[in-house]
Amino acid sequence: MRSPILAALLATASSAATIDWTAAYEKANASLAKLSLNDKVNIVSGVGWNKGPCVGNTAAVGSISYPQLCLQDGPLGVRFATGVNAFVPGIHAAATWDRALMRERGQFMAEETKGVGVHVLLGPVAGPLGKNPAGGRNWEGFGADPYLQGIAMAETIEGMQSVGVQANAKHYILNEQELNRETMSSNVDDRTLHELYLWPFADAVHSEVVSVMCSYNKINGTWACENPYVMDTILKKELGFQGYIMTDWNAQHSTSPAATAGLDMTMPGSDFNGGSVFWGSKLTQAVNSGEVPQSRLDDMVRRVLAAWYVLGQDSGYPATNLKASVQGTHKTNIRATARDGIVLLKNDDSILPLKKPAKLGLVGSAAVVNPQGMNSCTDQGCNTGALGMGWGSGTASYAYFSAPDAAIKTRAQADGTQISMSASDSTSAVGSAVNGADVAIVFITSDSGEGYITVENNAGDRNNLDPWHNGNELVKAVAAANENVIVVIHSVGPVILETILAQPSVKAIVWAGLPAQENGNALVDILYGDASPSGKLPYTIAKSASDYGIQVVSGNDDYKEGLYVDYRKFDRDEIEPRYEFGYGLSYTNFTYSDIFVDGRPNAGPATGDIISGGRADLWETIITVTVTVANTGAVQGAEVAQLYIGFPESAAAPPKQLRGFEKLALEPGASDIAAFNIRRRDVSIWDVAQKEWVVPEGTFTFSVGASSRDIRLSGTLDSV
Ligand code: BGC
Repeated sequence: MRSPILAALLATASSAATIDWTAAYEKANASLAKLSLNDKVNIVSGVGWNKGPCVGNTAAVGSISYPQLCLQDGPLGVRFATGVNAFVPGIHAAATWDRALMRERGQFMAEETKGVGVHVLLGPVAGPLGKNPAGGRNWEGFGADPYLQGIAMAETIEGMQSVGVQANAKHYILNEQELNRETMSSNVDDRTLHELYLWPFADAVHSEVVSVMCSYNKINGTWACENPYVMDTILKKELGFQGYIMTDWNAQHSTSPAATAGLDMTMPGSDFNGGSVFWGSKLTQAVNSGEVPQSRLDDMVRRVLAAWYVLGQDSGYPATNLKASVQGTHKTNIRATARDGIVLLKNDDSILPLKKPAKLGLVGSAAVVNPQGMNSCTDQGCNTGALGMGWGSGTASYAYFSAPDAAIKTRAQADGTQISMSASDSTSAVGSAVNGADVAIVFITSDSGEGYITVENNAGDRNNLDPWHNGNELVKAVAAANENVIVVIHSVGPVILETILAQPSVKAIVWAGLPAQENGNALVDILYGDASPSGKLPYTIAKSASDYGIQVVSGNDDYKEGLYVDYRKFDRDEIEPRYEFGYGLSYTNFTYSDIFVDGRPNAGPATGDIISGGRADLWETIITVTVTVANTGAVQGAEVAQLYIGFPESAAAPPKQLRGFEKLALEPGASDIAAFNIRRRDVSIWDVAQKEWVVPEGTFTFSVGASSRDIRLSGTLDSV
């Protein structure tokens, strides 16, 4: 059936960011002509670890008014700065499924970045994708699906670069665990590489990201940062990437092979002890000897300069000052993303929102701010007190910390609610806090981070998917002492909830994610119904850790699971998840009606010029799907309508793959149309023999629903 609004939709199909590479390259060429060999080498070589104001620095080149470039972590705000905000981590932004909030988050982070004179903010993160639920750094990225990751990358990058800050898509590629990340090889087939791991990087390039960071690991036996296939063949040629590739910190292993494979900048220019210097004077020698062609060095420099020019950093960019106070009013975005990324997993007897309880009991060390201070642990390398982010280089200092106990106490006063509390994880302290309370709220956590810090015996990756600090026993003790228990979980990723769910007194589970410095305020918004929960899980919560079929490995990783990661595996193997990818409850109800599927997937490869992000035709909208979503409940709420595609059998693809989502805010009784633009890439698979994206022949199914397992409507189209 033809959608009545097809024409309007096609007219508004999303387009890439407007960035003028041609003009930037002209300026870069003009400057290049003025540079000596030494200048050129300086532009592409970090000055060495700890030798400048930022985690990465190059040398200034006066003749072209090029500054000492400052590169600083990270994906949720400016690390090691004192006057900035800590935004919510990527995984929590993803759980909002809200494009506008993601874009605003990118923009606000970049405003702070520019304010402190940092040129390159080292984020966002699309690798890890999060194939391994225990992977230590999954929380820095946007969840276990390439489409969701891709949209979040695009919004974040366009938001960041609209301010004139260089974004950095990292870690490229297949850096899915912390254990042995600097020695292991990730061995993957070409189809899996393209359809899962490369996918969000293609979005990043399509959004004109100006820099990419190659990862620590090897890919099919060759170091990522000297791998001609991933850097040159794929990123630069297949995806038409016009920016530059920098190493992860000390991820370089050679001078000439790295240069000829496509690396453009080395960071930080030495290892952490000042050794392992591969470029600098060594690159000069290699160019002089002809081992690295002069044209390759010129290409590196042109790319780095073009990235600087294309964002206007050559005029009026602030001087680097990591102490500048630049928080502005950005906390509005942190509060909104923290709130809207909270996922309500269970709500029996409509125990939530709270109804002016006479007495509330709060339990758990995660209800209070870290008693040693909110920023007392280096790079957030501890799980003490309330949790707002994981640990490692992808962290920032909290500007303030709204803890659950304080926020709840403030809100409870308005209702005259009495609060009793045990801010410990000791089961024996539970009774005094929750006996006689109308409702008991118990706080538990699970944490992870980057492998250079070990927290409570977890060396980056999580040792298991259980709650920390005896969380299951704590919940059991609370559930034994009180009949109305709400469990609040702050976590970097999935936690096995079976013990908790076996307690009849557990009426609600609030998946509060990683809400950064707005932890308590965001929770209160949801607990008290000031907002209806609208987050959806960006990964599957399994009944058993073994259901994922993927674990941290101790040697190389052969990616034997192929495309069958997270819900793709659960669907194929018909494993019932506890809470599926895309799941989340609301305080209201939504109904879906009137699906229209319109367009035509033309089978076979198409040809098209290469633009940023790959073949141009892959980015064209060729199908539209629309549905009507109505709020049939009693309160305002927002629904994330999700579109999953079932490929024809000939594709040998996972049963369902996310290829669209739209979040609609609806008043009670109101309805609106969710519209999904399906691009040629969305109905293509990577043909390994042809080395091309092709649309397979047969019948496609377009399913729309409230989660990956709650499909409400579907339609089909045949390819021709
Ligand atoms: C991390 C990067 C980070 C860099 C600089 C590395 O260890 O993998 O994500 O940007 O350090 O701090």
